[in-house]
Amino acid sequence: MSTNVPTDPAASPAGRHQVVIAETGESFACASAETALNALSRSGRKGIPVGCRGGGCGVCKVQVLTGEFRTRPMSRCHVSEADEARREVLACCIYPESDVQLRVVGKMQKAIFRKP
Ligand code: FES
Repeated sequence: MSTNVPTDPAASPAGRHQVVIAETGESFACASAETALNALSRSGRKGIPVGCRGGGCGVCKVQVLTGEFRTRPMSRCHVSEADEARREVLACCIYPESDVQLRVVGKMQKAIFRKP
């Protein structure tokens, strides 16, 4: 389960995990000190919606299907308590603590399902 711990990513323990997009099977390396969105955007995949990177715009919403992660605060405008209970969170606000499998939701779907 996730924890909602404001954190300094630079102070996070070392470690690398895989972020897997369930719908496509694509996998990206992600250090535990970086957000899942950072790993996705670093992958070179075009069209990953990177907005505010701070939990305020909501373009990077995903559902974490498996794996552990911690979060930093997210706007309730974009992630309700019910969303969070379903593990629907903002990729820019989660730090994987194990390999995680994500399902993209919302605006990110357009980029993920676009043909290269
Ligand atoms: S990039 Fe704005 S909420 Fe994630």
